[in-house]
Amino acid sequence: MLERLQKIISAAGITSRRASEALITNGQVAVNGVVVTELGSKADPSTDTITVDGKALKINAQRIYILLNKPPGYITALKDGQGRPLVTDLLKDVPDRVYPVGRLDYNTEGLLLLTNDGEWANRLMHPRHEIEKEYHVRVRGKVIDQQLKRMAEGVELEDGMTAPAVVNLVKSGEQNDWISVAIHEGRNRQVRRMCEAVSLSVVRLKRIRYGTLDLGTVRSGHFRYLTETEVRALSGEPARPPSTSKPTSTAKPTSAANQKHEVRKKSTRPEQLGGNISGRRK
Ligand code: URA
Repeated sequence: MLERLQKIISAAGITSRRASEALITNGQVAVNGVVVTELGSKADPSTDTITVDGKALKINAQRIYILLNKPPGYITALKDGQGRPLVTDLLKDVPDRVYPVGRLDYNTEGLLLLTNDGEWANRLMHPRHEIEKEYHVRVRGKVIDQQLKRMAEGVELEDGMTAPAVVNLVKSGEQNDWISVAIHEGRNRQVRRMCEAVSLSVVRLKRIRYGTLDLGTVRSGHFRYLTETEVRALSGEPARPPSTSKPTSTAKPTSAANQKHEVRKKSTRPEQLGGNISGRRK
């Protein structure tokens, strides 16, 4: 079936849809040996040979979906000019290149999704889906209700007002308070900037939830593969009924509660892996 080249490239897990367009216009993509620079050009992934920088796309590569508990001090880019540790350094024995769904700051920790399924990543990051991300923030000193209320209602940042958020005090300590902040936008350093806007100084920032997924028992620096149900629920696709392999038109999206009970042995972990993946639920 003919499909747009940028869609084929991002679905193959090379990079996002937008970055795929740049690969095309830069002349890095060829179809059957002919360089294609026009956006909107189509190809048939089942019959055409599509190359990026001379390397053939692995169209049917096994899809990999990972939940990593990122420690602070790792970057979510795939390379770093300063030689800092990369989140992908933590993914031992993963059989294909995966890249992060969105980003977390160098010093932010917690739940990070990684995949080689570009289409899935694009769906999750598309603003239309408004997937809620929840963070726990340790702030210096004490917070007051007015600060929480302002963050919840929206604060003015240099790139505009933030959308309404859910903000709560989680724990109060001698030196620091912990607050939770749930947002569905994905602006750069958004939680840190929201805190700064109400004069809160962030000591620690941890993402604890991404949509219906939470960190569970995955320890810092460890990861697990998502289940099929989790993958489909996150991107808003109907869950497959347990006894068939095909979705039906009556299947309903899986609720967060159901996911908690998902049988982990139906993980998307690639079959060929025999290694010891630490941090997976037993
Ligand atoms: N908000 C931030 O400020 N930093 C992150 O890493 C994620 C959300």
